[in-house]
Amino acid sequence: SRIYREGVFGRRPVVPVEPAALEAEAERRMSPEAWAYVAGGAGQQRTVRANLQAFDKHRIVPRMLVDVEDRDLSVELFGRRIPAPVLFAPIGVLEMAHPEAERAVAAAARSLGLPMVISTQGSIPMEETAEALGDSPRWYQLYWSRNDSVVDSFVRRAEAIGSEAIVVTLDTHVLGWRTHDLDLGYLPFARAEGIAQYTSDPAFRALAEARAATPSSEPTPRPTLSAVKALFSMARHYPGGFVDNLRSPVPRAAVETFLDVFSRSTLTWDNLDYLRSRTSLPILLKGIQDPRDAALAIEHGMDGIVVSNHGGRQVDGAIGSLDALPRIVEEVGDRIPVLFDSGVRSGADAFKALALGASAVLVGRPWVYGLALGGAAGAQAVMEHVLAELDLTMALTGVSTVDEITRDLLA
Ligand code: FNR
Repeated sequence: SRIYREGVFGRRPVVPVEPAALEAEAERRMSPEAWAYVAGGAGQQRTVRANLQAFDKHRIVPRMLVDVEDRDLSVELFGRRIPAPVLFAPIGVLEMAHPEAERAVAAAARSLGLPMVISTQGSIPMEETAEALGDSPRWYQLYWSRNDSVVDSFVRRAEAIGSEAIVVTLDTHVLGWRTHDLDLGYLPFARAEGIAQYTSDPAFRALAEARAATPSSEPTPRPTLSAVKALFSMARHYPGGFVDNLRSPVPRAAVETFLDVFSRSTLTWDNLDYLRSRTSLPILLKGIQDPRDAALAIEHGMDGIVVSNHGGRQVDGAIGSLDALPRIVEEVGDRIPVLFDSGVRSGADAFKALALGASAVLVGRPWVYGLALGGAAGAQAVMEHVLAELDLTMALTGVSTVDEITRDLLA
């Protein structure tokens, strides 16, 4: 109600409240490359559209004359009570949106008490993100490296920074056909901000140094214009180690090593048993779209799943994520929490996903737009708007707790 009162009494919000206006403003302010990377999806953008259209297929049916004066948005997830069923989705290469990257997002998450899912593709080492989070909840998102020593090391570091869950992203063992990035010749992971999590990792550094020490038979390529631009951007953001980095052969070896170890298309369900034996933290699988995979996740002792299609960035023409949710919820029942993402743009959207059985939702692009427009304050404002609208939607539909947001409130 604070946000609403401030709004109607003339205080302009930090970032546009209306989702389409927020997006349009971000497009104006971001570089064309950063905008294309963040907003874009796979192929002809069919899945990006399907994710949004899926929300139009459900209509909320409000109930009247229910006492909803005292509302409680909090939920318990993996033994921790959080103020609302909303998380910051793991987003990589944030430095392209704002130089403060994860530091700003962590500050926003901390102010709101919402969990931040820290990406493997971080722009800064997870230890620094954790510091900025203080005592606020954090989960760690793992891209399963081709190299097990890197996987082990990431998991150990995630435990050391107090992660409360490991989210294994399954849908990106190869990068989707990202048409916008291809047209711009833009691969953020070949730049410094995409691989800080790796270059700060002892296991990864050992691999990169070994590679740098092996003389390459290929001649060193002449720097392209985009490589020079990338170096300037590194100089801006990493004033400390930059000169040393320039003189050393490690950056190039690091990028090559990253490209070597990033993806693991041989990953199967058996590998999860390995991870299960490596950590006692709850493990969630992100990228589930088929009820059969949800059933397998339970069979393999997983603690939760995230129904997600990576925001439509992987398979063009894939099912809208919200369209996939009901059948998965039906399969899973109450056995493990089913989280949801891909297409949540507002509190009313979050309400629909919760009504269809999600335990919580992750929000991706919207807070990245807020970050690009206003740093920590911008990211925080976007998530506050989601929470405020969720709260109002609950009030106006006659529910006081998240448990009461059930499917019979949808038509
Ligand atoms: C992502 N996503 C993602 N997921 C993940 O597991 N690790 C990552 O590093 C990233 N990086 C990333 C970067 C950018 C720019 C975007 C837009 C997305 C996917 C993300 O976690 C989430 O699944 C989607 O963003 C959800 O869809 P919406 O909310 O953006 O529609």
